Amino acid sequence: MHILQFAKDLKELLTSTKSTIGFVPTMGALHEGHLSLIQHAKQENEITVCSIFVNPTQFNDPKDFAKYPITIGEDIEKLLSVGTDILFLPDVKEMYPFGMDNLELYDIGYLDTILDGKYRPGHFNGVCNIVHKLLMIVEPTRLYMGQKDFQQCLVVKRLLEITQSSVELITCPTLRESDGLAMSSRNTLLSPQGREKAKAIFGSLQYINTNWQSISFAALSTHCARELCEIGLEPEYILLAEADSLILLPDFDSSKKMVVLVAAKLEGVRLIDNLLIAH
Ligand code: PAF
Repeated sequence: MHILQFAKDLKELLTSTKSTIGFVPTMGALHEGHLSLIQHAKQENEITVCSIFVNPTQFNDPKDFAKYPITIGEDIEKLLSVGTDILFLPDVKEMYPFGMDNLELYDIGYLDTILDGKYRPGHFNGVCNIVHKLLMIVEPTRLYMGQKDFQQCLVVKRLLEITQSSVELITCPTLRESDGLAMSSRNTLLSPQGREKAKAIFGSLQYINTNWQSISFAALSTHCARELCEIGLEPEYILLAEADSLILLPDFDSSKKMVVLVAAKLEGVRLIDNLLIAH
């Protein structure tokens, strides 16, 4: 595996290739979910590139940024174990040579006003800045992202439209722990007790998915919010939306493809998850 710190070197390595390139951008602290993205990329492309960069501009909360887990040594071992071809490991100066005060502004419209767009102001603009920069460097054929970050996938789809990019976005299924908790780098920040409680997020999603044909969304989400609070989570939102647009829905509509999305804090760690409603 080539490990490169500078965009110039990565571009040089890739410039002569006519091969298809699968790209998996990450912020490190890799888990099975990330590795499954690499595996998808490997199956569908001749070269697989992963990046690890904890992007400061997408953290609206400095405390969240300060405690984001960093495990580069283990990450490299994991990437080697799945046969990654190239790891791009830039530092902040490499990605933001002119500083972080004058970011590009991307018009992602409605998506920035709801869910994480609403609760994490500036977050998606930070994501767009870094993903756009990375795409200009890697110039992949395909870009792989996880469905766990459902809204991020739609934002990046929009980014590709805005920038008239020909990169194909492939959204891969969420990987879960045996108790249902969606795999996330942030799970490692939880205490053993917190980790046990965190499974209730998926429990809520499943409860809604099981009962949606007989109980209103308002009643189900109120019930789930109360249950999450009782065990010590602080739900930020439990919302229902049209899956293709994320237009929020007041109640279930069986003529639509629907998704339920949850964000909740636990021990100061913000966790998100979502589930497509099974018809
Ligand atoms: O999903 C993530 O890990 C990050 O938001 C991404 C896409 C790597 C951009 O920093």
